[in-house]
Amino acid sequence: MNIKLILLLIFIPFFATSHEVNIEDKSVEEIVKQRMGNMSKIKAYSSKMYPLTMTGEFDEIKLVNEELLHAAKDFKELFPEGSQGGKASDLIWEDRETFDLYNDNFIKSIEDIAISIENEDSVSLMENFNIMASNCGTCHKKFRN
Ligand code: HEC
Repeated sequence: MNIKLILLLIFIPFFATSHEVNIEDKSVEEIVKQRMGNMSKIKAYSSKMYPLTMTGEFDEIKLVNEELLHAAKDFKELFPEGSQGGKASDLIWEDRETFDLYNDNFIKSIEDIAISIENEDSVSLMENFNIMASNCGTCHKKFRN
């Protein structure tokens, strides 16, 4: 085998997991704290974005939206088996399929905002912002105590 191939094989697992949050060496308490922190960030970013959607400052909105997307993707990974706690409903671990679906819908809505930003389309941006924001209540109603 040539050296490039060997290096590639060594680094494939690293590349494959580099976008996931590292929760393996964390206690349940730390995981709960981290996902609450993620949600606080999600609230802060979405509050920051709302007034910006009416300004046409697409460069700035894009930065905030990228942070929001990152926090939302990480949030989904912070519910491993046995990490019940905080305000998270036990239903998350009983109906994982629906919880994953709600997370995916939320992530998709943020990706749709990114498309509006790319197109510099304020009308669809405001629509997509509202769709994104409607996911908060839908998920909380079912999965937050
Ligand atoms: C897919 C489900 C889901 C979506 C979507 C979601 N949340 Fe949450 N949120 C939760 C859960 C579950 C908790 C409780 C986490 C815990 O305590 O472990 C929570 C907690 C929170 C908290 C409390 C954090 C703390 O420190 O206790 C805030 C604030 C919050 N969410 C805001 C939002 C906002 C704003 C949005 C939309 C922009 C949103 N959430 C979207 C599931 C969701």
